[in-house]
Amino acid sequence: QAATVVAIDGPAGSGKSSVARAVARELGFQFLDTGAAYRALAWLILERGGDTDDPATVIGALDSLDSLELTVDASGQRVAIAGHDVTEAIRSERISAAVSGVARTLPAREAVNVRFRAIIAEARPGIVAEGRDITTVVAPDADVRVLLTADEAVRIRRRFGDVGGDERQVGARLAARDASDAKVVDFLSAAEGVTVVDSTDLTFDETVEAIVRLVTEES
Ligand code: C5P
Repeated sequence: QAATVVAIDGPAGSGKSSVARAVARELGFQFLDTGAAYRALAWLILERGGDTDDPATVIGALDSLDSLELTVDASGQRVAIAGHDVTEAIRSERISAAVSGVARTLPAREAVNVRFRAIIAEARPGIVAEGRDITTVVAPDADVRVLLTADEAVRIRRRFGDVGGDERQVGARLAARDASDAKVVDFLSAAEGVTVVDSTDLTFDETVEAIVRLVTEES
């Protein structure tokens, strides 16, 4: 029996990661947070004193992708690169601010996509993969494809609840990252065959249930 693949895309602060992980847990599937690979590369470049906005630097760091470890466990994804466990470090604002530079470098996208596709191909009994281009580029043939959105004000409030600090600054950073990312991949409109789940007026559990329902209806 082939694995069931659930692809979820959406903007920053849409709750993709937590929702996708909860969906995976409920279905007994594996879970892949693709943003973590971009973040791990950004971490490594900064660790070496490099600039993620310099394409040559980003391309130079791609050799280290061989050392990237991504566990795909729904109870929590562990991320390591070049022998460093960066699971927590990649969540910092410093990395969030630097990561779009990596994402803009096409050879980096192609290299991580090879890894993602291999992980998805080996997944059993299924996998929930989330990011910006999973429904369109990484796994366009996924059994269920979802664009998870929420009004920007709601996304900022949720992110603010996670990271604290100055709400206006959190909002400005989130909008800036989305604007930069949107130049590379379109995750703001749904591609053909992609179901939009708007979580603006949904609780976390309702959002998870809406996606789980799409999967169970499909099979
Ligand atoms: O989802 P997360 O916020 O962790 O993603 C971090 C960054 O990685 C995004 O801002 C984007 O630049 C990049 N990314 C991407 N394509 C994906 C996943 C993430 O370009 N599929």
